[in-house]
Amino acid sequence: MKDVLVLGIETSCDETSVSVVKNGREVLSNIIDTQIPIHEKYGGVVPEIASRNHIEAITRVTKKALQEAKIEFEDIDVISPTMGPGLVGALLVGLSYGKALSFALNKPLVAVNHIEGHIAANYLTYKELEPPFVCVLISGGNTQIINVKDYTEFEVLGKTRDDAIGEAFDKVARVVDLGYPGGPKVDALAKQGEANIKLPKTHFKDSLDFSFSGIKTAIININHNTKNINKADLCASFQKTVTEILIENVQKAIEMTKTKKVVIGGGVSANSYIRNEFLNLENKYPDLKVYMPDMKLCTDNAAMIAAAGYYNYISGKTDDLSLNAIPNLKL
Ligand code: KG4
Repeated sequence: MKDVLVLGIETSCDETSVSVVKNGREVLSNIIDTQIPIHEKYGGVVPEIASRNHIEAITRVTKKALQEAKIEFEDIDVISPTMGPGLVGALLVGLSYGKALSFALNKPLVAVNHIEGHIAANYLTYKELEPPFVCVLISGGNTQIINVKDYTEFEVLGKTRDDAIGEAFDKVARVVDLGYPGGPKVDALAKQGEANIKLPKTHFKDSLDFSFSGIKTAIININHNTKNINKADLCASFQKTVTEILIENVQKAIEMTKTKKVVIGGGVSANSYIRNEFLNLENKYPDLKVYMPDMKLCTDNAAMIAAAGYYNYISGKTDDLSLNAIPNLKL
C-alpha cells in the first residue's frame, strides 16, 4: 500500500502545532509553538489572546513542519485538524486553516477529536501497540477511563463528574503560588515533600467515575487555615491522593474488562509520580503491560492528531467544508 502522509494541525488551547506523520506511526516533523509565556502572567489561558496568537503562528509553524519533514504541500495525502474539544476561537483557527488547505490542495479533510489524539500519542511511542486496550486519559480538560475496542471504536467506562485532574493540578499550583501551568510545578515541588497530609477521596459505588472538586476544596481550605503550611508536603499529598484515586479506578477497569494492556495519555500523563505508580501495576498484574507516551507527546501536539487522523482516514471517514468546531465534543 502507498504511504499516507497526514498533516496534523492542533490549535485547541495554547499550543499552535503542525506535524507530518507517515502511516500513523512515524513522526516526520512535530513543530510546537507554545503560548505558555504569553498566558503565564494571567495565571491561565485567555481564550481571545490564544486565538489571535494561533492566527499569527499557524502559517509559520506549517511551513516549518513541511520543511523539517522535507516535503511540499503537494506531497500531503490527508489534512487533519483538531475539531474539538477545546476553546472555540482557538479551534476555529486550525480547523479553518485545515479546511482552506484541503480546498486549495484538493486533499481529503479528516478532522480529529482531540481526545482520540491523546490516545493515539501512544501509537507513535510504541510501534507494536494495537487495540484493544484500556486508556486512562488524564489532561487539562478531561479525565476518563476508555475501553479502546478498535482504532476508531471507543467506550467510556468512567469520567469525571466535575473537574478534570489537570484542572485540579493547576488549581493546587495557583493556591500555593506556583504559577501556570501548574502540573509540572506541583510535580517538581512534590519531590521535596512528604505525603503526610490526609486528603479526602471521592468514590462512586459501582462506577468508574471520578470527582476532584472535593480534594481541590480541601487543599484550598487547608492552605487557608494552616499557618506556615509546608507547600511541598501539600503538593506531595495531593499528588499521592489523586494517583491513588486513578489507580483504584483503573484496577476496577482491569478486572471488569480483563484487559492485558493499560495505556495512559494526556498532559497529566507527564507526571513522574503517576508514571511510576502506573508502571507498578505490572508487578501487581503479571500479565499486564503498561504503556505511556514519550514525554514530548503527552501534552498537546499535532503529531498525535495526525496519528488519529490516519486511523480515521483508513477507516473511511472524511469531512466536508461545512464542518464546524465543537468545543464540547465527546468521544
Ligand atoms: O493534554 P494537555 O496539554 O491539554 C489538554 O488537552 O487538556 O494537558 C494540560 C494539563 C495541564 O493541566 C497541566 O498542568 C498538566 O496537563 N500537566 C501536568 C504535568 N505536565 C502537564 N500535570 C501534572 N504533572 C505534570 N508533570
